[in-house]
Amino acid sequence: MSEKVSMRVKANGSIRVTGTVDFVDADGKVIKTETDFSLCRCGHSANKPFCDGAHKSHDFEAPEL
Ligand code: FES
Repeated sequence: MSEKVSMRVKANGSIRVTGTVDFVDADGKVIKTETDFSLCRCGHSANKPFCDGAHKSHDFEAPEL
């Protein structure tokens, strides 16, 4: 049974994922497993899909959800 994973959208920043997630390619193969990480939603990270803090220096303003 899978544990529940949460995703928290941070104001003008990343999406914080709490829990363990498998990253799966188009063929269904698990290519990476990560626990407790942040996803970039500003488009400026040099380490996509993960946030590297670049949103701060780009003054990212997120659209309203
Ligand atoms: S949201 Fe942090 S670098 Fe994009």
